[in-house]
Amino acid sequence: MDLDPALPTGTEKAEKIQGMFDRIAPKYDFVNRIMTFRLDVRWRKKTVKALRLKEGSVVIDLACGTGDFCSELKKAKMVPLGFDFSMGMLEAGRSSSPLSQSDVLNLPIKESSIDGATCGFALRNLTELEPFFAEVSRVLKAGGRIGFLDVAEPENRFLNWGHHIYFDRIVPKVGALLSDKSAYSYLPKSVSYLPPYQEIVAMIERAGFKQVERKLFAPGSAQLFTGEKA
Ligand SMILES: C[S@@+](CC[C@H](N)C(=O)[O-])C[C@H]1O[C@@H](n2cnc3c(N)ncnc32)[C@H](O)[C@@H]1O
Repeated sequence: MDLDPALPTGTEKAEKIQGMFDRIAPKYDFVNRIMTFRLDVRWRKKTVKALRLKEGSVVIDLACGTGDFCSELKKAKMVPLGFDFSMGMLEAGRSSSPLSQSDVLNLPIKESSIDGATCGFALRNLTELEPFFAEVSRVLKAGGRIGFLDVAEPENRFLNWGHHIYFDRIVPKVGALLSDKSAYSYLPKSVSYLPPYQEIVAMIERAGFKQVERKLFAPGSAQLFTGEKA
């Protein structure tokens, strides 16, 4: 999909995203659960499982928002640390894990010190993907595992049609009703920031990961990238 020329890039994008999430933070979790019919909870659980890391592993959750992934990682007896640049999202969270207001493109973490990394629904919100994957690679130990979750489009034609009606027409209306009109109109448009999955896989490999795989979660509206730091 080509990027809509009306969508911001670079610093303008980062500032817009930060401001938007600060604004929608108080109702973010509530609206998310409604819009995904709680599937987002199931997808995060599957992502944590796919990490295949042992108890006690230190896992960074990047662009952690309100800390949903941190809570799942904690349930799996791992040690999560969350990073996000939106203070509003961090403050709206209920996670008891340490959270830090940071840019995930420039993490305050020393190299080769972390066992794993998760990232939920944020790849398309980043200004650049290659530097992000390089930064994750820098801080992970050899053998460290990643689980990056984001939206996707169902491959089945009928499901894809239904997905577009829901995501492009219903989600903005429900979002406007429950939270913020411009943020939830931006949501379907932001999908065009995501390159085709084959390119994402190639970028992750170039950043120094092996066994990189991409999996679609039913009904095809979420995708997970996993891999291991070489
Ligand atoms: C759609 S929310 C996802 C939140 C959470 N990961 C989840 O699974 O619900 C995207 C998050 O990415 C964060 N974000 C975007 N770019 C970022 C950056 N460069 N550094 C840190 N956080 C960033 C936003 O502040 C926002 O909280």
